Amino acid sequence: MINIAIDGPSGAGKSTVAKALAKSMDILYLDTGAMYRAVALKALRLGIDPCQREKVLPILNDTDVEVKYGQGVQHIFVDGEDVSQAIREHRVSKAASDISKIQEVRDHLVDMQRAIAKNNDVVLDGRDITSYVLKDTPYKFYLSASVDVRAKRRFDELTAKGQAVEYDKIKSDIIDRDDNDMKRTYCPLMRTADSIFIDSSDMTVDEVVKVFLKHIEEIGKSVGKGV
Ligand code: DC
Repeated sequence: MINIAIDGPSGAGKSTVAKALAKSMDILYLDTGAMYRAVALKALRLGIDPCQREKVLPILNDTDVEVKYGQGVQHIFVDGEDVSQAIREHRVSKAASDISKIQEVRDHLVDMQRAIAKNNDVVLDGRDITSYVLKDTPYKFYLSASVDVRAKRRFDELTAKGQAVEYDKIKSDIIDRDDNDMKRTYCPLMRTADSIFIDSSDMTVDEVVKVFLKHIEEIGKSVGKGV
């Protein structure tokens, strides 16, 4: 199996790049952030504070999170409802970051991620993929960009969807979320020594994808798997 792991901070373009890579290699793309968002959405809908472990744990056992693919596109379901759009709301981002600090939430979702990766050629993006979920894969990347570029991208993305947001708030939310994701106890976001570092600040998506494909080909040759 080819398992490609991509980590990096919020708004670095991981999902755009991962999607394009998966398409060009004709393999699956698993957006692991969507899984944390799904659990967070359920908590928000029930009025549960995503920081409160003792309130979150009962809903974890009682929540059915499923990842399904329709024509190669990932859809995420919570208790049978397709929440792929709903999890993109801005309020869900912070809630997902908070809920992802809870070890039991992570263990549950990581088991699902590993099961998918075991049975499929797949690109996974997230925060702990290179350091934990797929720590043995030879295909490891850390994608980053300056905080201003990331805030601008997120602002443009949300405005294009019609969400009323302020640039400064988006930027400070990104800084807070990075901090939250990098400083948590369990599987924080980190750049592992064996990940290839790519800074997408001054690159187009096509350029970034080309750089990834070149590295993937080289890694494939070195591990004896032609890609
Ligand atoms: O990639 P994203 O912005 O959709 O992720 C939402 C949150 O989920 C992120 O702030 C931290 C958490 N997350 C995580 O802890 N581990 C992952 N592998 C993916 C996401």
